[in-house]
Amino acid sequence: MCSVFGYIGKNNCRSYVMEGLQKLEYRGYDSAGFACLDSDDKRLYFSKAKGRLKNLATLLKEKPMDGHIGIGHTRWSVYGKPSQKNAHPHFDCEKRISIVHNGIIENYHSLKEQLTQAGHIFHSETDTETIAHLFESLLVSHKTLKAAVVDLVNQLEGAYAFLCINQDYPDCMIMVRKRSPLCIGIGDDEIFVASDPLAFINQTKKVLFLPDESFAIVKKDLIELYEFSGKPLTPDVQELSIEWQDNQKNEHQHYMLKEIYEQKNVIHATVDFLHAMTDQIWDHLSLTLEQVRKLDKIHLVGCGTSWHAARIAQFYFETICMIPTRVHLASEFRYMPFFPDEDSLYVYISQSGETADTLEALRLVNSMNLPTITVTNVPSSTMVREAGGFLLTQAGQEIAVASTKAFSTQLSALYWLAHRIALEKRIIDSVQMEQAEQDLLVAAEVLENTIENYKRDICQTHAPFYTQFDRVIFLGRHLSYPLAMEAALKLKEISYIFSQCYPAGELKHGPLALVDEKTPVFIFSHSEPLIYQKIVSNAHETKARGGHVVAFAFEGQHELIDLADLSFVVPKVKTLLGPLAMIGIIQFFTYQIAKNLDCPIDKPRNLAKSVTVE
Ligand code: G6P
Repeated sequence: MCSVFGYIGKNNCRSYVMEGLQKLEYRGYDSAGFACLDSDDKRLYFSKAKGRLKNLATLLKEKPMDGHIGIGHTRWSVYGKPSQKNAHPHFDCEKRISIVHNGIIENYHSLKEQLTQAGHIFHSETDTETIAHLFESLLVSHKTLKAAVVDLVNQLEGAYAFLCINQDYPDCMIMVRKRSPLCIGIGDDEIFVASDPLAFINQTKKVLFLPDESFAIVKKDLIELYEFSGKPLTPDVQELSIEWQDNQKNEHQHYMLKEIYEQKNVIHATVDFLHAMTDQIWDHLSLTLEQVRKLDKIHLVGCGTSWHAARIAQFYFETICMIPTRVHLASEFRYMPFFPDEDSLYVYISQSGETADTLEALRLVNSMNLPTITVTNVPSSTMVREAGGFLLTQAGQEIAVASTKAFSTQLSALYWLAHRIALEKRIIDSVQMEQAEQDLLVAAEVLENTIENYKRDICQTHAPFYTQFDRVIFLGRHLSYPLAMEAALKLKEISYIFSQCYPAGELKHGPLALVDEKTPVFIFSHSEPLIYQKIVSNAHETKARGGHVVAFAFEGQHELIDLADLSFVVPKVKTLLGPLAMIGIIQFFTYQIAKNLDCPIDKPRNLAKSVTVE
């Protein structure tokens, strides 16, 4: 979740590093740092600042430094609190070696003990500093740079990507990758390196994704690539066709609001994209027709909002193509008993395509040669490269930490996929397939119109009113339970209001004890009469205890609407698309509450957009 960026070449590095870091700041923003070797005296200079990258930019303006080789970092803290001291780069005792690092060195504690006993002095609480001191000692005991790196990487445990510059080797940079993303951009007498190719794609489209467990010793016009054993590897350079989208907030105060409003268009784009590839879909997913027809189990894996999309999609696959489906939290999946099953499909859902837990869960199943696909938003992501097949949503770059348009396009893509499998299995016909696409477009329309209908009231009255509460209970049933979970996640991550979600049927088994006039209950309805009636009972139970109910209901659900203190009413759509139709108003309402609380909505405290550590 930290990001690293480096440059070595014919030009000065600082502006490239700062521009690259700015593009990667979504990965972490606790602190930032920069180091370079001065072009004239070849000595190491550095600057670090707590907080956002702009603080580092200010420092660098006051105390300029530059050179032909430099590295930079934005941090999301794991070991050691956010502070200038813990900001990267980190150094050896002599401040000749400088390291920026993304990931975790799991055995840093024992290494640090050994190094301290050997006389090394540490200045931070980070695991990263251990790399610099260990490298310092290995450079003494090995004759060549390469031999020292081989020894170094074989002593470090964990998942990591790091860059190293060394005053004693002023014309080269060391780049190491183990399970964390790292890629090299090859220019004309210049080399870029970053956690994500988007950070340098404006400069070059020739990219080398470092293979797992490899390192490179790089000069401005030469890349030596090695396995961790030291065996040379042939670089596999690709020409990428991705572009950096210069994403402005336009008239919106926050990216989150802009992204909420983009949803109708990106759902349309996703449906159009999938419709156009319908005939080649199985080739694209690397599945044979026979495999699809024999499919008898689906596993959906994800984290955070993507996991909520999976929870909703479970209803799609079980109802539409009648395939038993299990949903797994990626962080738990790896540690549970695993029962390989050839007729299963494993679907990894991830906006970024980089989330470490999801990626490791993917690798586990890949290692068993079972069919895997990823549903993601980022074509250049690691999951796209590693999964058997991939389905791209068309959300476009999502910048706000709180996921909005990625979620609604994931739901759309998964709803479409469930129908496409059902078509292949001859459960539905092509007319029903086309109807499903139309239904998605209708739901997108409802999503946007509902926001329009309530916009004024929310901004003027409701959002300011709900800022007074410190905690909220969220309830849903069946399909609306994972929707309620997503709503609770949105409110807690951007407003810091404590939000607890329960399946509505569990109300009487505990959470009812929390209900009072200071704890509003947000209830999410369902359009099936049987389930709706049970939700109404839960609203009655809440009201009978003096509770305050906010209902997210469908048109015609009068009993619930009348009972509620506040209700948002959404036109009815296809039952399974209820969550998609309803999500817009939920996002908008929670956004406005957070805005009234003056929260840093796009970059909430302690969070990051792309979680690349387990
Ligand atoms: C972080 C983000 C969430 C996202 C989750 C999973 O927590 O803040 O918005 O849902 O990671 O990310 P992924 O990229 O795998 O969907």
